[in-house]
Amino acid sequence: MDTFSIGRVKMKNQLVLAPIYRITDLPFRLLCREQGASLCYSEMVNSEALIRNNKAAGHLAQTSADDRPLAMQVFGARVESMKKAAETLLREKQFDFLDLNLGCPSDNVINQGAGSALLKRPKRIVEIIKAWVDLGAVVTAKIRSSPNMLHTIRLAKEIEKAGASCIAVHARPITQKNKGIVDLVAVKRVKKAVGIPVIGNGGVNDRFSFNRMLDKTGCDAVMVGTASIGNPGVFAEILGQKPLPRETAFLKYIDLYQKLEIGYFGRLKTQAIKFFAGNKQLVVNLQAAKSAEELVGLVQSRKQAAKR
Ligand SMILES: Cc1cc2nc3c(=O)[nH]c(=O)nc-3n(C[C@H](O)[C@H](O)[C@H](O)COP(=O)(O)O)c2cc1C
Repeated sequence: MDTFSIGRVKMKNQLVLAPIYRITDLPFRLLCREQGASLCYSEMVNSEALIRNNKAAGHLAQTSADDRPLAMQVFGARVESMKKAAETLLREKQFDFLDLNLGCPSDNVINQGAGSALLKRPKRIVEIIKAWVDLGAVVTAKIRSSPNMLHTIRLAKEIEKAGASCIAVHARPITQKNKGIVDLVAVKRVKKAVGIPVIGNGGVNDRFSFNRMLDKTGCDAVMVGTASIGNPGVFAEILGQKPLPRETAFLKYIDLYQKLEIGYFGRLKTQAIKFFAGNKQLVVNLQAAKSAEELVGLVQSRKQAAKR
């Protein structure tokens, strides 16, 4: 597999873990890296919460020395808050790229004028990117394609001109949220329109769809979202390697989680349920668990049962 670079940072392959709220935390990213992802994105962090010194936002932005290369994703609508959030992150955290969320379709984020709501305000986007670049950040942006192709292309060009070093294109319009038909032509057109690297995103869940994204669009790298949820082994599969069994992967996740002292049980449970979503009885039992030890016990029993 080829490599790609953003600015001066070279990735070891073209496999990128998408930003996924409540999923792509530090231990999950480390697991995805072990399974083959080169570049990982953090889940989106709220700029307003960050500058209020909110503890939960600080947790979401947690990184470590081996969690690189990393794109730290931030959402927000106010230039001043986005600037202050960037200052805080650049001072306190280790990461390679500061990523601007321009795709989140959730009402909560849109009502703040952030995420995909910003797609309608290119001037604001440019102001935020310029402010971040002036602070010394290597800036990336994650956009969505629009049914109006010209709008998508114009926006991508403005983002590049403002100083961004890479664009990830989620090739679905806002109305489709994270499901359904993927507009590979939009990725191809953005790639043709800009000189910076373009990451194609949407509907990639195996080697075939990975190759299709690369071949049909000419993009530099491919981002995997939904297919990685509860399944970091998807990266190994795309690379043609044997993935870690789910039980082993989840036990590693818990181990990392505890070592990193994240200490937020709700997150562990959410992840456990995602890892074993296909097993109804196990999910019921995981939902009822009251401690990390109980989760470990349930998953270990399942591992033993699978061996028999
Ligand atoms: C549960 C969930 C949470 C997501 N959270 C984020 C997020 O925090 N930031 C972001 O830019 N995109 C987010 N996305 C969108 C993904 O990064 C990705 O663009 C989308 O799922 C399309 O890729 P896929 O077809 O491989 O799933 C989220 C998607 C899902 C399903």
